[in-house]
Amino acid sequence: MTRPPKILVFDSGLGGLTVFAEVIKLRPGADYVYCADDAGFPYGDWKEPELVERVVQVMEKLIAEHAPDMVVIACNTASTIVLPFLRVHWPQIPFVGTVPAIKPAAERSRSHLISVLGTPGTVKRDYTQNLIAQFAAHCRVTLVGSAALARLAEAQMHGQGVCDEDIAAEIAPCFKQENGARTDAVVLACTHYPLLVEDFRRLAPWPVDWIDPAPAIARRVDQLLRERGFEEAFAGTGQARAVFTSGARPDAQLRATLSRYGLVAG
Ligand code: DGL
Repeated sequence: MTRPPKILVFDSGLGGLTVFAEVIKLRPGADYVYCADDAGFPYGDWKEPELVERVVQVMEKLIAEHAPDMVVIACNTASTIVLPFLRVHWPQIPFVGTVPAIKPAAERSRSHLISVLGTPGTVKRDYTQNLIAQFAAHCRVTLVGSAALARLAEAQMHGQGVCDEDIAAEIAPCFKQENGARTDAVVLACTHYPLLVEDFRRLAPWPVDWIDPAPAIARRVDQLLRERGFEEAFAGTGQARAVFTSGARPDAQLRATLSRYGLVAG
């Protein structure tokens, strides 16, 4: 290819930045549009059919406007239900999803007590149950659906104070002790959560492996781009902008946050 690829990275909010940050490391020369469906945030509470309709609708506009070569659904809550529909609607576009990293957690755990920390939507999904049956049958898996953590991560990204007690209360159910063994791996099954991982480490009752699939997703993006003829030959020349479905103009604080990720609003 004689041009850089255009990659659309999509989430309900700012959580997908944790995936975007890894993708841009491997592909600094690509053009990026980061879209936060802030008008629909949080996705964690949406019913499945409504969420499918919502994401397909938003994607229709985004694809018409930006004509991406690849779409990264940087959201577990959406990926675990919407991906098959997107692939049917746009068979010519590769969609890369973000799903709970249950396989690596089960492989790494020595105690075989693992937890999956996600939105209420993600932990309820058949998709998540199937991953557990396929890859973690030898483990005791605790599913923890947090209604509050994605909002707390958004608040922190908007420069608002987040209190330790609120975070500690959300992660506490992940920590189990059984017959002398204790949880040693927690899957970060929502892209917002790596934004808070330093707080999780500080507030955890004991150290665990916090498993973030973002680097693996970035490698998958890179591999698929190569398969489509996009070799990395455009180092450092790409454009990256962030758009918000609410149409709200980001305030100075949010613009500063976006610029730390190399993104310009608009
Ligand atoms: N970042 C999203 C995820 O990975 C969800 C946050 C939300 O909208 O509830 O699941």
